[in-house]
Amino acid sequence: MKEEIKAYNSVLDLIGNTPLIKLSKISADLTGNFYAKVEAFNPGHSTKDRIALYIIEEAEKRGILKPGDTIVETTSGNTGFSLAMVSIIKGYDCILAVSSKSSKDKIDMLRSMGAKVYVCPAHVSADDERSYYNVAKRLHEETKGSVYINQYFNELNVDAHYKSTGPEIWEQTGGQITHLVACSGTGGTISGTARFLKEQNPNIKVLGVDAFGSVLKKYHETKEFDNAEIYPYRIEGLGKNLIPTATDFDIIDKFIKVSDEESAHTTRELAKKEGLFVGYTSGAAFQAVKQYAEEGEFDENSKVVIIFPDHGSRYMSKVFSDDWMNEQGFFDSVNQEEALKIEIIK
Ligand SMILES: Cc1ncc(COP(=O)(O)O)c(C=O)c1O
Repeated sequence: MKEEIKAYNSVLDLIGNTPLIKLSKISADLTGNFYAKVEAFNPGHSTKDRIALYIIEEAEKRGILKPGDTIVETTSGNTGFSLAMVSIIKGYDCILAVSSKSSKDKIDMLRSMGAKVYVCPAHVSADDERSYYNVAKRLHEETKGSVYINQYFNELNVDAHYKSTGPEIWEQTGGQITHLVACSGTGGTISGTARFLKEQNPNIKVLGVDAFGSVLKKYHETKEFDNAEIYPYRIEGLGKNLIPTATDFDIIDKFIKVSDEESAHTTRELAKKEGLFVGYTSGAAFQAVKQYAEEGEFDENSKVVIIFPDHGSRYMSKVFSDDWMNEQGFFDSVNQEEALKIEIIK
């Protein structure tokens, strides 16, 4: 009898079931036990594979998407990559409106995956006609047979994590998780994952991560949308200049804000201390853990799960570029030779 061929039908079969990895060295000075849910192990290298597949398959089930139709979305890069990947396998066209803040690498990657990309100015308000939200809306209206994924205002974004990320973490921790730490952009990851986990154990604390320059933390605390909170910052995918309906503010216990500079150093520290080559928001998430620890959030019994959303390779021209770090002034406060660890032999 012939051996069965052990192959996946396509990359889509590899979405989800990402590993939980214990963090030891970087957390050595912190009280508690820390585990990273490393979403870079998805085939599209980010957590957004989950929502891309889930939302597209729901649209197919509901008869909204038919072969040859077009997927339209706004994206800081990762959702676009995942949508482009799923579109290729399933035979859809993919149009993406991205922020000019997105790295060149990310835009080139989207184009390599067959997507048509529109680059929109980052520093205009969300209601400006040039904002990537409004450009995507217009493209959707102009393209016959198109579906607008609308991740910021789509409840299916939350459901995708409720049905996959949440149950995986519950199972991987044997129900012992005490704290969930996650970045909030659309809010889909934190809201869906937390909803599932709190249904299992309402005592689990849900700790959000927001950026300086974003409205989320203040809105969570006061229900006030404060324009004065909004200013440009460098981390992509974290924080917002609007209030997404995909964020369930009631399920989040607390938000903390992290800076561009500290998050950048922590991202590099994760690579150097844990061998985890993960993205800028993963560094932001662990930076938040350090700050929450300082506030006395954890004790020796804490089992803290931190979601690391994507892979470091997407940030070669940013956080992992010494030139970029220098240009931002992020090396000013540290010993440059120590930070760079580079010797040029002439
Ligand atoms: C790199 C990165 N980190 C974190 C997030 C935030 O995840 P969510 O949109 O589910 O809140 C995003 C979303 O755009 C992202 O691209």
